[in-house]
Amino acid sequence: MCNKKYTFEDGLILSQKELSKDIFEMWIETEAAKSAIPGQFISLYTDDKSKLLPRPISICEIAEDKKSLRIVYRIAGKGTKIFSEKLAGEEIKIVGPLGNGYDLLDEKAILIAGGIGIPPMLELAKKLKEKNVDINVVLGYRDAALFLKDDFEKYAKVYIATEDGSVGTKGNVLDCIKENKISGKVIYSCGPTPMLRAVKEYALENDMEAYISLEERMACGIGACLGCVCKTTDIDDHSLVKNARVCTDGPVFDAREVDI
Ligand SMILES: Cc1cc2nc3c(=O)[nH]c(=O)nc-3n(C[C@H](O)[C@H](O)[C@H](O)COP(=O)(O)OP(=O)(O)OC[C@H]3O[C@@H](n4cnc5c(N)ncnc54)[C@H](O)[C@@H]3O)c2cc1C
Ligand code: FES
Repeated sequence: MCNKKYTFEDGLILSQKELSKDIFEMWIETEAAKSAIPGQFISLYTDDKSKLLPRPISICEIAEDKKSLRIVYRIAGKGTKIFSEKLAGEEIKIVGPLGNGYDLLDEKAILIAGGIGIPPMLELAKKLKEKNVDINVVLGYRDAALFLKDDFEKYAKVYIATEDGSVGTKGNVLDCIKENKISGKVIYSCGPTPMLRAVKEYALENDMEAYISLEERMACGIGACLGCVCKTTDIDDHSLVKNARVCTDGPVFDAREVDI
């Protein structure tokens, strides 16, 4: 589902909290919450004049009153470090909501997420539960720092895979699906590219639909610079070559339509 309405504004930080080492959550009061849907993202600007480009961060949750958004982010470099030092009551420049989002299908679904791809799946789980869709959630972590697990358990049965084997299945999300014989007709997924590649292959082998959210480095974030293209199986209307802009055509794609 595509939503082209976005606004630039000063959002108000309502709260900031460290969920686990270097993983933070921030609630922001923003107009973007009015029209946001699961799978979309916002771009946040730092106050540092040497960093003019905004940083894209997925929408993790939309408040019931549609006045604020929750984001969950990992400190990856200077920009996200600056965000983590901001306090409740301060303002933050944002643009959003950006990108498309997940279409909410009625079929039994498996939500598969890994690492910092876990946050955008939360609002999706909530919305699918509201539609009474049968869902199972599979989350892949490095270790026992299971950020957001309790939030997902409000909406679905949650299965865990950890790289170090400290909780759940030792291995990756697909090992967990096989070990627990989890089935469904459609997959929604977000996470590192090798994981999405494996999810796409699994979906094709098992004749399932799969919608995956890609992460590319972005510059403008609004479709103007072609800084975020990915390869597609079909020709794009905008550039007339086999590519798509992750920021506006995505970040969610039908797995069959992208070459990853
Ligand atoms: C659509 C989208 C949604 C995202 N959602 C989230 C989210 O919900 N939570 C979250 O923590 N992060 C998310 N990211 C990644 C986040 O945008 C980057 O971590 C952030 O821009 C890094 O900025 P920085 O200034 O802290 O680090 P930089 O100094 O710019 O980079 C630090 C390191 O992070 C890597 N990096 C930078 N940008 C990206 C990127 N876009 N994708 C992957 N690696 C990157 C760099 O290669 C480098 O190794 C998302 C990215 C996209 C494109
Ligand atoms: S980041 Fe500029 S077109 Fe996507």
